Amino acid sequence: MQKILFATSEVYPLIKTGGLADVAASLPRALLKLGQDVKILLPAYASVMHKLTSGVKQVAQLQIEGREISINQTRLPGSRLNVLLVDIPEFSEREGNPYCGPDGSDWFDNHKRFYLFSKAAELIALNQAQLDWRPDIVHCNDWQTGLIPALLSLHPQRPATVFTIHNLAYRGLFSYQAFADLNLPQGFWHHERLEFYGQMSFMKGGLAFADYVTTVSPSYANEIQRPEFGCGLDGLMRYRKESLAGILNGIDMDEWNPGTDPHISVNYNRRTLGNKVKNKLALQADLGLNVDEKTPLLGFVGRLVDQKGVDLILAQMPRLLATQCQLVILGSGFPHLEVALQKIAAEHPGRVSVTLGYNESFAHRIEASSDIFLMPSLFEPCGLNQLYSLRYGTLPVVHAVGGLRDTVFEESAEAITDKGNGFVFHHPTAELLFEAINRALQLYQQPALWKQLQLNAMSKDFSWDQSAQQYLNIYEKLLA
Ligand code: ADP
Ligand code: GLC
Repeated sequence: MQKILFATSEVYPLIKTGGLADVAASLPRALLKLGQDVKILLPAYASVMHKLTSGVKQVAQLQIEGREISINQTRLPGSRLNVLLVDIPEFSEREGNPYCGPDGSDWFDNHKRFYLFSKAAELIALNQAQLDWRPDIVHCNDWQTGLIPALLSLHPQRPATVFTIHNLAYRGLFSYQAFADLNLPQGFWHHERLEFYGQMSFMKGGLAFADYVTTVSPSYANEIQRPEFGCGLDGLMRYRKESLAGILNGIDMDEWNPGTDPHISVNYNRRTLGNKVKNKLALQADLGLNVDEKTPLLGFVGRLVDQKGVDLILAQMPRLLATQCQLVILGSGFPHLEVALQKIAAEHPGRVSVTLGYNESFAHRIEASSDIFLMPSLFEPCGLNQLYSLRYGTLPVVHAVGGLRDTVFEESAEAITDKGNGFVFHHPTAELLFEAINRALQLYQQPALWKQLQLNAMSKDFSWDQSAQQYLNIYEKLLA
């Protein structure tokens, strides 16, 4: 059994802005199931502390840069997982999004907040936090935790470190002044360490210093070694390729299960697939869309940012609306995308429904109700929504990148085997997206084939069992 400290800035259901939160809840759970001793390390955000009305106890008090910082412990709701909450006032006394203020710009002191969080991780990792628990492995996630492997590298007796890239596009960049404000060794200001074209990159701390680097799909692990996807870090990724692995994310098969999902109108499974359409009828009625079971419903849920290819959908809207389909969209993000989508919804009542904001329960309803799920991402490290869609028999239309390429497969209508489960286009153009949607709409008119694809999609095992074992193999290799 290994002791694993899993450091993350998000974990579902306590705090979530995207897929990282889902992974940070479900991977540690799977490791626990494999008999490992896992503790999650999370900043004690104000909103998290409000949610946890009971069951929180202080387990340690740390001295960091002359400040007293307490560590509280709780259980992740609905699980046996322990969560250590680092009570830094810059997190615990601030409401709102973990990374940015109400106007959408980054918190001015993000470098300091996540530096202090990393210092706490360092002390816990070295068993200097009176917890009487010394992890064998510190598993870090994304730029927010990138300084942890860097700080630990300064200690000869330390746990092994693994750093997982969930999204290389967020490099955690700060000015030289920000670097100078932190108590980091001057030697870290070097292009093989934290320095990145005159700035400091927290992400590079993980990439350069971790004993092993992983990312969330095999295809993305290859892509980030190329300039098109490497975000300026592809050279470093190539340099690290012997200690870089792409491990496909799993999903929480209980949370995302159409057979038991409490958020959806009517539960269904492979044998009762006929009930799926009742979810569509209920959603159409609730959203003021024309209620018609034969009209194909296209769903989209996601962050409204460039990565997700929303522009491609917008560019093809007139052609999409010339078909019989309806659209249901849930997301939040860049104001120009929000405004453009809202305008289309206002112009096409009964056909297009756009909901801005974040709504977990509604996301489940869209997955269950839609016939087709749109995921035309320009890049996608793994993507969870296409996996949720597959599990719900909602066939995804995806651009063949990253985890989308590894999980969604299109076969010609004449030769569908047990592999075909969606629609795939190979270059990120609006035209090719439309053609793929059109192929989906054509096939939708052939119920027997459509059902076969749905059953293929729903039969695939996306549980964490295999992937968690792969992480465990890496931990074991590092400790050998
Ligand atoms: P990313 O992490 O890049 O945002 P993923 O597909 O890995 O993409 O994960 C996105 C997760 O966030 C999914 O669980 C999805 O349902 C959820 N999500 C994204 N936007 C919203 C929203 N507006 N409301 C509810 N859930 C959302
Ligand atoms: C990131 C990626 C997404 C991935 C998620 C969880 O947010 O954008 O593709 O699924 O992390 O690993």
